[in-house]
Amino acid sequence: MIVKIFKYDKKNKEWTINTKKKYDIIYCDTPNTFKMKKTGAGFKSGAESKYPVMDLDQICALPVDKIAKPNALLFLWVQTPISGGTSNNIGDPILDSWKFHFRSKLYWDKMSIGMGSDFRNQVEELWYARRGTIKALHMTRQSNVVRHKRVGHSVKPDVFRKIIEDCAIKQFGKNVKMIELFARKAPFRRKWDYFGNQLH
Ligand SMILES: C[S@@+](CC[C@H](N)C(=O)[O-])C[C@H]1O[C@@H](n2cnc3c(N)ncnc32)[C@H](O)[C@@H]1O
Repeated sequence: MIVKIFKYDKKNKEWTINTKKKYDIIYCDTPNTFKMKKTGAGFKSGAESKYPVMDLDQICALPVDKIAKPNALLFLWVQTPISGGTSNNIGDPILDSWKFHFRSKLYWDKMSIGMGSDFRNQVEELWYARRGTIKALHMTRQSNVVRHKRVGHSVKPDVFRKIIEDCAIKQFGKNVKMIELFARKAPFRRKWDYFGNQLH
């Protein structure tokens, strides 16, 4: 089901929340902005020409904490060039603000090189974080490297939704409640809600 649970108020620079629902699983692909040099006549990153992007403060201020159950899992996409160090690491501040603790990562190997100013990016990271009392997943058959060809600008392959669903059922059982934040498609699945401004 599509849910309009958050709204960003540009004037007051704050999010409003419009739900009392709580979820066991949050799957999230934030509309990140990348620090890029201006080249002459203005320059937009690939993402900025496809959808509105947000800076880290706006993303951290999203009240994800308010829609997560006390025991919950978070799966967060973090692109490799902004996943490390202190100055270019969006993952840790987001987890801290949303009150989750880092646990592990899945790597999406896109099987071909893409863009990249230092190295050409072939992998993207899906961070796995949790809060509350959560057991180890013991996904004995699941490697942390998932190979799948690219599927369009910023589109994530369905195989990750399937892996998340397997983890979710293992951890919380069949009545698990899941939400995808900043989703672009909303296939009917009983367990899932979807939030995003490009949903169709
Ligand atoms: C990185 S893309 C998500 C791509 C998606 N995971 C997929 O597989 O297609 C981020 C999405 O967040 C949306 N978005 C940006 N600002 C938003 C806002 N204030 N509220 C809701 N969605 C927003 C963008 O329009 C874009 O569709």
